[in-house]
Amino acid sequence: MKNVLFRRKNLGELLKKKGDIELQQSLGAFDLTLLGVGAIVGTGIFILPGTVAAEHAGPAIVFSFIIAAIVCALAGMCYSEFSSSVPVTGSAYTYAYIVFGELVAWLVGWALVLEYGLAVAAVSTGWSSYFSALLEGFHINIPKAISGPFIPADGTYVNIPAIAIVFATAFLLTRGINQSAKLNKIMVFIKVGIILLFIGVGIFYVEPSNWQPFMPFGIEGVLSGAALVFFAYLGFDAVSSAAEEVKNPQRNLPIGIIGSLLICTLLYVVISLVLNGMVSYTQLNVSDPVSFAMQLVHQDWMAGVISLGAVVGMMTVILVMIYGGTRLLYALGRDGLLPKYMHELNKKYRTPVKSTWIFAAFIAFCAGFIPLSKLVELVNMGTLLAFIIVSIGVIFLRKNKNIPSGGFKVPFFPVIPICSFLLCLFLITQLSVYTWIACGIWFVLGLLFYFTYGKKHSVMNKE
Ligand code: ALA
Repeated sequence: MKNVLFRRKNLGELLKKKGDIELQQSLGAFDLTLLGVGAIVGTGIFILPGTVAAEHAGPAIVFSFIIAAIVCALAGMCYSEFSSSVPVTGSAYTYAYIVFGELVAWLVGWALVLEYGLAVAAVSTGWSSYFSALLEGFHINIPKAISGPFIPADGTYVNIPAIAIVFATAFLLTRGINQSAKLNKIMVFIKVGIILLFIGVGIFYVEPSNWQPFMPFGIEGVLSGAALVFFAYLGFDAVSSAAEEVKNPQRNLPIGIIGSLLICTLLYVVISLVLNGMVSYTQLNVSDPVSFAMQLVHQDWMAGVISLGAVVGMMTVILVMIYGGTRLLYALGRDGLLPKYMHELNKKYRTPVKSTWIFAAFIAFCAGFIPLSKLVELVNMGTLLAFIIVSIGVIFLRKNKNIPSGGFKVPFFPVIPICSFLLCLFLITQLSVYTWIACGIWFVLGLLFYFTYGKKHSVMNKE
């Protein structure tokens, strides 16, 4: 029994099998960095620098962003070592399969389905509100009944724009990673351009007196702020899902992961400084703080441009996260833990069309009908669990004799992986009991599925 649950993939064979990979290998370091920025900068940047400053950290939110970035960078380095040593799709799930065996791998995969699925659902509902606001600017109104979750008492039944953006993105992804990466590139340039424009205009309205007091809620506020702004960094791990579609992954994957984290940290810190310098943090507890600040200084045109940036920005997050999720389902299907059709590739586009549509249907259901505000914390939980596995896993990975030389290695080993593990554990303790319970239910379902299906159908049974 024990052996079955903890049977591990053989890294040497996995790398040998890479020879017959079917996905197209076309992405370079620059594409990956943009894919990372695409996945990371979305809802968070347009909301958290205001709301978290107002309620938790004050202008010292810059420190919250830096702390969260450090946690992500440490985990990011462990991801980089894994992804450059094991350039196989499936991200933390595949890594856990090699190091900890099948059961842990399945649970990580199950947690990641939750992370990607709910993150996309949450971001697409945010997209729906910004999109409706943008249309209102052109005097087009989407009826309230079809632009919110199923809450008849509030007069909302289904969120059609959120469902539409999920399916439209899924359609694009079925047409091939190249097409998607091209469009992603354009959208990333637009959103980064708009963010830079905000900084460029806003800087002239900064009044240093607004930065006083700098740390009104003390160090505790900064730390709880860090746990919240963590959400703004989610997505960089999706870069490692692209492993099988990357040219020279040993070099390009670490550049993509660390590069995109650096760019995003810089953007978050500067935007927080400018925003909190333009308006006192006490006024920033609004749903759209960035546009609000511009309206306050009578730059209404900028407020409109920012809504456009938010709409485009969120689209890239949706794109990359659906992509990550489908590649995960593809890997689970290939290993037999999910039904085989999850890893069927379309002959013409060489993309996993079925798993893409199934994943999109799951997300569209969540985004269209369920009120998501509370479930979002679960996203952080799923991610932190994956980070923990990757951080400890890298310590075991080093012992593996089959790793090809020349790939990225985490510096200051094993101090960095251990720090990464401890910091993630600390952030998990900051999440609510409610999140723990919801997460527990999800894992019980996962275990049920594994023992009734995955264990029997795993391809490891044949090996
Ligand atoms: N990091 C992503 C965002 O901020 C999830 O929207």
